[in-house]
Amino acid sequence: MEGLSRRRILLTGGAMGALGAVSMAAPAQALTAWTWSPSGSVAGSGSGIDPRWVWDEAADPLLSSLLDRGAVPEVNRLLWDWTRNDQDLPAGLPEDLREFMAEARRLPPWADRNKLEVAAEFNKGRGLYLNLLNGVGGGMLSTAIPKEARSVYYSQGGADMEDRVAKTSMLGFAVGDLNAYRPGGTVVVEAVKTRLVHAAVRHLLPRSPGWSHTGSGQEIPISQEDMLVTWHTLPTFAMRRMLEWEVPITRDESEAYLHLWQVTAYLLGIREEYIPATWEAAYAQSDQILGRAMGPTSEGVELTDVLLNQLAEQTSPPLGVSRPLCNALARHLVGDQVADWDAIPREPVWDPLVAEAWPLLVKFREKLIPLPMVPEVAWTIDEAARQYILFYLTKGKETRIQIPVANRP
Ligand code: HEM
Repeated sequence: MEGLSRRRILLTGGAMGALGAVSMAAPAQALTAWTWSPSGSVAGSGSGIDPRWVWDEAADPLLSSLLDRGAVPEVNRLLWDWTRNDQDLPAGLPEDLREFMAEARRLPPWADRNKLEVAAEFNKGRGLYLNLLNGVGGGMLSTAIPKEARSVYYSQGGADMEDRVAKTSMLGFAVGDLNAYRPGGTVVVEAVKTRLVHAAVRHLLPRSPGWSHTGSGQEIPISQEDMLVTWHTLPTFAMRRMLEWEVPITRDESEAYLHLWQVTAYLLGIREEYIPATWEAAYAQSDQILGRAMGPTSEGVELTDVLLNQLAEQTSPPLGVSRPLCNALARHLVGDQVADWDAIPREPVWDPLVAEAWPLLVKFREKLIPLPMVPEVAWTIDEAARQYILFYLTKGKETRIQIPVANRP
């Protein structure tokens, strides 16, 4: 944030506004003290300890032990059919893991079923652009977060990005599903599995030569701060973007959407003292940590290219949606600064078309403008977004989130 005046932040506008105060001067470097107060968290109080130095004290030793004992392949096999929120844990799990999971799957005492229901309805209505914001937008933001890009690149899943995106989408779709936290939903399962995956990665990645040479001085990846950074690329970014697009959102919907992600953060192993209690607290936390965590890396550029090629492949014929349109859509979602860090090519034809058409498409979907005001090209984008979502929904049915046992070969 140094050297970035408030006026300049306001002037940057656009997607930079959606990201909040992203420092453009010193990407991924300027480390200031952690000053975000736990009084703004769902816990209401806490130690105030800097989340850069906190990981997951319950899951990490457990996964280290499971990996060292060679128990993970069998655990993955047993967990393959554990898919529903209300499903008993499979028989045969190691006792220490069973105990952990029994506790980890329980919703926090502050979880509010009514709010979760309102959030599910909200997600249903806004599914198209929420999926796009969280999927394409969140994806492009995460590749511009050096620590995350490098973790993903050097971990096992980095070698097969299509499979990885399909797995990661499973959590996103589970959160956005109407059933999300209902007994027949899957978000509890996917979040607890993801918590196990992250704990395994903390054990494995420090042994990767690729990661340790580029690990930003970090000895153990995926700290609580890293988790929060990524969390802000999801609900915080999406909410800011939707407000910018003037999507009508009631107070109840806004609170419920935050609540959905608070509960999800908890299940992912984020400590309650770091989970923002209000949007105001969330924006303040995001402004403190997201901008300074972002910047370009060669790994991020490579991953972005793979992701956008996939997007283009899935949305190509018969509509003729091309990689240039995907580039333009991604650039529009995340803004120029992040797009440039990700080396997303500029598209002289598509960039202005998407910038004009997308906001109108959103306004039309929200019944704010009549059909004749929507340019034809908007429907090409709309269809591409649908196909993208459908592709990963289908892919997700064939795969499962699994605990890695090695790094990228
Ligand atoms: C795996 C979501 C934060 C790095 C996963 C998976 C999901 C997920 C759903 C499972 C998919 C798979 O196994 O491929 C999230 C969410 C986060 C978050 C919702 C925060 C709210 C982070 C952060 C990092 C990270 C901060 C690194 C700095 C990884 C890695 C994997 C992974 C390396 C494993 C991929 C593999 O199997 O090789 N994450 N993640 N994640 N995540 Fe995260």
